[in-house]
Amino acid sequence: KSSAGIAALEVYFPQKYVEQKELEAFDKVGDGKYTKGLGQTRMAFVDTDREDTASMCMTVFHNLLEKYQIDPKEISRLEVGTETPIDKSKSIKSYLMSVVPSAHTDLEGIDNIHACYGGTAAIFNAMYYLEHQRQINPNETKYAVVVCGDISNYKEAAARPSGGAGVVAMLLSSKDAALRVNLATKASHFEHVYDFFKPDPASPFPVVDGHYSNLCYLRSLDKCYQRFKKQSGKNLQDYDYSMFHSPYNKLVQKSLARLVYNDALDAKGVPSYINSSNVDASKLEQLLSVSQENSYSDKEIEKTFGALSTDVYNSKVEQTHLLSKELGNCYTASLYIGLASLVNNQGSNLNDKDLLMFSYGSGLAASMYEINAKENEGRFSLQNMQKVLNLQNRLQQRTKASVDEYASTVDSNVKRYLENNRQSTTGVDHLQKGTYYLKDIDQMWRRKYERK
Ligand code: ACO
Repeated sequence: KSSAGIAALEVYFPQKYVEQKELEAFDKVGDGKYTKGLGQTRMAFVDTDREDTASMCMTVFHNLLEKYQIDPKEISRLEVGTETPIDKSKSIKSYLMSVVPSAHTDLEGIDNIHACYGGTAAIFNAMYYLEHQRQINPNETKYAVVVCGDISNYKEAAARPSGGAGVVAMLLSSKDAALRVNLATKASHFEHVYDFFKPDPASPFPVVDGHYSNLCYLRSLDKCYQRFKKQSGKNLQDYDYSMFHSPYNKLVQKSLARLVYNDALDAKGVPSYINSSNVDASKLEQLLSVSQENSYSDKEIEKTFGALSTDVYNSKVEQTHLLSKELGNCYTASLYIGLASLVNNQGSNLNDKDLLMFSYGSGLAASMYEINAKENEGRFSLQNMQKVLNLQNRLQQRTKASVDEYASTVDSNVKRYLENNRQSTTGVDHLQKGTYYLKDIDQMWRRKYERK
């Protein structure tokens, strides 16, 4: 069995955030709509006068190399996943070339773009590359890096609380990785739909049909899970943790319930791993007879399986949600900030644990696969990843912004979206040491960055 996979992990998120509770009051929606209804706590946001997707990716990539003492010359593949590029032709990957020594140009890989799926596509590409290298020279250890992440903003007031920002960098090793990516049983689902897309080049915002997108997401989850179960012979019970792409936390709770519902359909009753002392058998039978098509809008199914899966959620999912509740949707990084949250919370305790991963990108592309954790020694151990991530501390060092500041920042980000020939003027005091920031954009839209 291959031991290739993720050997090191680093995240970067903007230093400013807004409280979802305050956003509820500002938007004059009912108390609890964003915090309970969507399950979110805070949301990170970026002032694009100083930071953009390229700067954030450079920051996280450089920090990964420094914190794990990785010689960039050892990396032979560098893939990026994003859906908020800053140029329609020039890749974010090309900006990352300014982080590695100028002589190290034999470094393949470019951007993977398809909504929130790009990070997963980048991982798959890097894994295929490493497998190819292993076949050529089984004795040599090869390294690849995947950098993924986004700045997520919406035009519609209802969708704004499901924005966010954050990036992840991962070192992938062809051997002895602590987080072994197992693609042997991977299951995917692709379709042509218009649920969330970005057809207007003059706007940073997506066109989004939020409720339809949730339906597409859950339908893709069902398809992937059903295929995955056939291919692997396993189900939810066989996994210690389960991670999902997270537009917002409530959808993840519903996703977990959906897996339990799928297992109940197969078991023709409550799955054996659920403690179900007070389920009405005839009601359950009736719920399991609802057609698949109608099941998505059936509130009774949602409620019943939501309640049945509460304990499973607490044990298998909650630990993966530290960052996504604090940062909001990081699009291509969303699933992998879930992984970072889990490693941050569990470290070496993840040894011998199996993780189930579900990735979704609107439009649509979806995959389910597993990761098997195996503790290592030294800089690429789970213990060291936990030490490097240090998330609670880093989250505490952020600065809370008022909702007014958040709203005016989003407004000026929109105004600046297509602007060239400008000097950045916003201060950089709030940025952490090691952060890349934008200096200016010249007349030809060429961007200059510096590192703090
Ligand atoms: N207290 C507690 N809960 C509340 C309250 C309240 N005061 N008010 C509403 N709620 C609940 C609702 O009952 C609902 O729960 P349910 O989903 O379990 O039924 C939930 O909060 C949301 O309320 P809605 O009325 O459905 O919210 P709305 O329609 O205004 O918007 C939506 C929600 C559709 C998710 C919107 O935020 C959106 O479009 N976001 C973008 C999502 C997106 O990008 N999808 C693409 C997915 S792929 C990707 O990641 C890009």
